[in-house]
Amino acid sequence: MVINNPYIEKVKADSDIMHQVEEIYSHKWKWSQYFGNDNEIILEIGTGMGNFFGKQVARLPEKNFIGMEIRYKRLFQTAEKSRKADDPHFVMLKDFAQNIDKIFMQWEVAETYIFFPDPWANKDRQRKHRLLQAEFLNNLHQITKTGWKLFFKTDHREYFDSTREILEEQWLWKVVSWTHNYENSEIFDIDNITEFEWFYRGENTDINYIELQK
Ligand SMILES: C[S@@+](CC[C@H](N)C(=O)[O-])C[C@H]1O[C@@H](n2cnc3c(N)ncnc32)[C@H](O)[C@@H]1O
Repeated sequence: MVINNPYIEKVKADSDIMHQVEEIYSHKWKWSQYFGNDNEIILEIGTGMGNFFGKQVARLPEKNFIGMEIRYKRLFQTAEKSRKADDPHFVMLKDFAQNIDKIFMQWEVAETYIFFPDPWANKDRQRKHRLLQAEFLNNLHQITKTGWKLFFKTDHREYFDSTREILEEQWLWKVVSWTHNYENSEIFDIDNITEFEWFYRGENTDINYIELQK
């Protein structure tokens, strides 16, 4: 049976979405040129349906936003929400975040948001698919500007704790703050949560949060 995903054509025709890796990689070290200004680049990995990304694009017109997603419908939904901003500066990239070293040069990105990445936790051998592993965190550190930040949230405690262990071993990032119970912390901002977080609110699931600085 052929499954016809109507979002494939929408994504291909969308000038705010890059879907070919050759094109994506050709902008390495040239993202400022692409945006036509030297504003800071904010990266969100796994934008999902784009609630958080779209709001940030509208809230911060003086920043350039790059969103990464691998699913066509979510790429398109995120682009649609982001276009609602008055003067949107954003582009969506259809690629696996494991490829950030091919997409960005050293110090090219200011802030990165990674919210509720898939935990790949059903079986031990699946964990190799997880995004937050030593090599990826090292690459992310490389592409981040000195003094700028990485924000990570997950409802998966074991993924969170094992990521913290890797971070401790790497000694690359400075931990600004972290909590196993984000919703009960002072920094909790109900107006800025993702759709995944909305979905799990009230389900007795604590949200883990960490803010890191290069
Ligand atoms: C559990 S959802 C969370 C979405 C959103 N951040 C939220 O909090 O609502 C994880 C998202 O990451 C995307 N994703 C999974 N693996 C990815 C990868 N390797 N690179 C980029 N995005 C990925 C999925 O398509 C999905 O939309």
